[in-house]
Amino acid sequence: MKITRRGFVKSAGFGTAAGLIGGTGIITSPVFAQSRVDHMAGVYDGGEIHLNQNESGRGPGPKTLEAIKKYTNMRVGRGYAPDFVPELQEALASRYNVNRNNVLLASGSTWLLQGAVRAYCNADKPLVTAGPTFSTSEGTARQIGAPIKQIPLDKDAKLDLDGMVAVSQGAGLVYICNPNNPSGTVHSPQAIEKAVRAILAASPDTHIHLDEAYIDYADPSKMQTALPLVKEFKNVFITRSFSKAHALAGMRIGYGLGHADTMREINSAWGMGDVSMLAAVAALTAFEDIAHLEWEREENARVRNFTVSALADLGFDTPESHTNHIFPNMKQPASAVRAACTPHKIIVGRDFPPMEHTHCRISLGSMEEMEAAVAVFRKVFA
Ligand SMILES: Cc1ncc(COP(=O)(O)O)c(C=O)c1O
Repeated sequence: MKITRRGFVKSAGFGTAAGLIGGTGIITSPVFAQSRVDHMAGVYDGGEIHLNQNESGRGPGPKTLEAIKKYTNMRVGRGYAPDFVPELQEALASRYNVNRNNVLLASGSTWLLQGAVRAYCNADKPLVTAGPTFSTSEGTARQIGAPIKQIPLDKDAKLDLDGMVAVSQGAGLVYICNPNNPSGTVHSPQAIEKAVRAILAASPDTHIHLDEAYIDYADPSKMQTALPLVKEFKNVFITRSFSKAHALAGMRIGYGLGHADTMREINSAWGMGDVSMLAAVAALTAFEDIAHLEWEREENARVRNFTVSALADLGFDTPESHTNHIFPNMKQPASAVRAACTPHKIIVGRDFPPMEHTHCRISLGSMEEMEAAVAVFRKVFA
């Protein structure tokens, strides 16, 4: 039985024994027993394989899990000034060679995306974005009534940077997702630099947001951080997420890097959420565990190659992905792909207009999950 969040709160509020913990440490409450997720089983959701949210198929590394467990103690009762938040900020500033006030933490980079649109766009200052790309910025622009200039991806499913530059004059914000979600495609540092310089030359007041949520999965010979541009231009900033290669989506933590004034403007425009002590210690441990990140990158590439070549065998081409998701041309609507796979408990991505008639985003899970998914693809699409 599925239990909704609202249903959970209701039952927890009126239940007789919600939250009982047995001698094994396993929660024995009937409410928890009804949860659609078996928390002891790992990442599987009630027998379904969820390949629709670009979450991690492998979960955090052992050191990160260990840190979360170690600090899950009585100290959790304190924490309005959470331990590890200053340490995390310091670690980020020191790795990127910036000051503490160039780093803005948020409980998920989503808040930074929303704050940036609220800070820089309004009815007279459009958002320039791509279609399809990650849609939070666009959704926020719609909420505040800012015009949206959406430039379709090119024939290789890459951002049309020239097209975006061409409509940027007078824009409040240009959102560049590199690597791009959902297409997984990237642009070289030279291409990004050329676009940034062209935008700012024609429109010096425009802000430019480089979303690098998936950077840890990118091939460094094809894509690199835009940090040098952040250091050169006050109006250019980056956001990153701990939800992807660091596998902390459930902890909700991300960060921005930019000029102190820019970080302050974004922070004042919208709440960034509080970063909890456990999220901070998890992020700090994951950030410093370079060996695990390298393993994660290699494992993701292995899973991606396996899945892309299986789809190629079935006649479906995939744009080169530098992320933990792929966007194959399935030669049919994404809705048809979902309808074919869902009965087999393989849950793939939503529609991504204007490419929803041909392309379907598939998040990459573990190898085991993708072997199961590919078996279903062979069955339903052969
Ligand atoms: C490109 C991109 N940016 C930002 C986010 C937001 O991530 P979070 O709020 O978990 O940091 C996502 C999530 O899928 C994403 O794909």
